[in-house]
Amino acid sequence: MTIKKPLLLFAVVPIFIYSLSGLAWGHEWIAPPAASKIENPIAATTESIKTGYALFQDYCASCHGKSSQGLAPSVTGFEITTPNLIISSQRHTDGDLLWKIQTGRGKMPSFQNGVPPSDIWHIINYLKSRAQKKAGTFK
Ligand code: HEC
Repeated sequence: MTIKKPLLLFAVVPIFIYSLSGLAWGHEWIAPPAASKIENPIAATTESIKTGYALFQDYCASCHGKSSQGLAPSVTGFEITTPNLIISSQRHTDGDLLWKIQTGRGKMPSFQNGVPPSDIWHIINYLKSRAQKKAGTFK
């Protein structure tokens, strides 16, 4: 039996697109527009950034690494490297980050029950300060 070329395309193209979507992992997770616009009510003072750093080490470092740059599967046992949160913080608004951290997805837990939003805002201030430092706009 010979397979007609157009038919073969129908089989190959979806597989190709599927494998690309695997590469794009992490970028398809988008906060709803209303959540994205929420502004951080806590000023990014040195005190807030310090608090955020300490909270980050408690809540997040085990999966995202002490320096928030992501951990390899060999360390976490997950299928994928956890996201580099310095890069995520450069790409996302404070509202996006709050929504993702409170919602969770897959191995990323939801930090909503028992975690006051103020703790998350301090963590976001810490992550954003690292992102800005990296971009050279934060002294
Ligand atoms: C048990 C492991 C684990 C813990 C603890 C954890 N994360 Fe995650 N996090 C993940 C994984 C895995 C993903 C990728 C989820 C996905 O895209 O499916 C993720 C994704 C994220 C994202 C989305 C990144 C992006 O660019 O889309 C943010 C932001 C984030 N985590 C922040 C945090 C913060 C802040 C904490 C601590 C309050 C935390 N995470 C704790 C495992 C964890």
